Amino acid sequence: MELIHASHLKGTISVPGDKSISHRAVMFGAISDGMTEITNFLQGADCRSTISCFQNMGISIEQKKDTILVHGRGLHGLHTPAGMLDAGNSGTTVRLISGILAGQPFESVLSGDASIQKRPMKRILEPLSSMGADISSIKGSGCAPLAIRPSKLHGISYLSPIASAQVKSCLLLAGLYADGATSVTEPVLSRNHTELMLSAFGADIRSAGTTAAIEPEPKLKGLKIEVPGDISSAAYFIAAGLLTKGSEILIQNVGVNPTRDGIRKAASAMGGSIQTLNERTVSGEPVCDLLVCSSDLKGTVIEGSLIPALIDEIPILAVMAAFAEGTTVIRDAAELKVKESDRIKTVTDNLRRMGAAVTPTDDGMIINGNRSMLHGADFDSYLDHRIAMSFAVAALAIDEPCTMRNAECVTISYPDFYKDLAKLQR
Ligand code: S3P
Repeated sequence: MELIHASHLKGTISVPGDKSISHRAVMFGAISDGMTEITNFLQGADCRSTISCFQNMGISIEQKKDTILVHGRGLHGLHTPAGMLDAGNSGTTVRLISGILAGQPFESVLSGDASIQKRPMKRILEPLSSMGADISSIKGSGCAPLAIRPSKLHGISYLSPIASAQVKSCLLLAGLYADGATSVTEPVLSRNHTELMLSAFGADIRSAGTTAAIEPEPKLKGLKIEVPGDISSAAYFIAAGLLTKGSEILIQNVGVNPTRDGIRKAASAMGGSIQTLNERTVSGEPVCDLLVCSSDLKGTVIEGSLIPALIDEIPILAVMAAFAEGTTVIRDAAELKVKESDRIKTVTDNLRRMGAAVTPTDDGMIINGNRSMLHGADFDSYLDHRIAMSFAVAALAIDEPCTMRNAECVTISYPDFYKDLAKLQR
């Protein structure tokens, strides 16, 4: 696909609903009593995979205009699935649903596409097993397909070696079905949407520092949920506004939960002009509008406790770093290697294609920014939606033609991405 070049991006945009929150709204709605009504649900392929898994377990889920209606059947209302549960490309679906499946009185098999079958699942298999779950990797690879059989779960206190909301959420969901309290302590706090939303559904869940603890067998009750716009999708427009000359973009309705808004902090540290307007709370999550103006960026260091709050935004931050003046160091981010692609490699490959000076490291990369070195390139998405969107933004600000292989994978999290970007062209 030919990518567009543009300067003077102007206008207002509302990015689609948050992916993490959309998944959780369907999952928690399915195991609650009564109806859950979800507005601004993300209609991306990943969230549709979550819907189809629950439909496969007997949950009626319908779409009425912009609203998704989940007819919950309570904690013990799921049915034996007809065949394999297919999570598609979605790691969140596999890891969170595994926690629910571990507590069910039926057998299930859970898998997904070729990429999902390479992503590490030992991180959930081991702690779930120590809760008494009967869950295994069918091929013995530590990856999906996973087989889950009925068993009695007991609560554990788990010290997680990684800051992962997927691991944390998986264990908290299994904890709903255990015979005592379950707690998860992380090295750094990861996104806390599960804690906030489960509490709103009626769960007895408490957070203190980097520990979240849940009591079993609550009465979960269906809710109305308005999903805030996804800051991970807004990130591409933040970068587009900062990198292209003479631009001003108002991004409306962006979720800015502090466990997710690292992009705002890192982009501001790079000298980006980002104003926060109209701060409010939507369904228990902090939300605002962001006004972004073209800026000359400088290098920065992105590390430590900031990493979980921007882990999905590192590809676009790396693109910004290539245009910035000076050196950007990204470290403590080894998790990049086990995302939809090995993002240390796929970001490095694409940055080099456009002439940027980048050195990959074991847990991140070092980028020596220099706008004048950058040139047209044939990028490859490696079938990773965030790589596709990041380098489509790079192409906006490069003066020579650029193309992208497998550009259509953006449907995973942002089906209208290219259309929305084109709308801002002046
Ligand atoms: C997610 C958590 C993060 C993130 C992913 C979505 C979630 O993964 O990268 O895109 O919704 O819980 P990890 O938990 O593996 O860090």
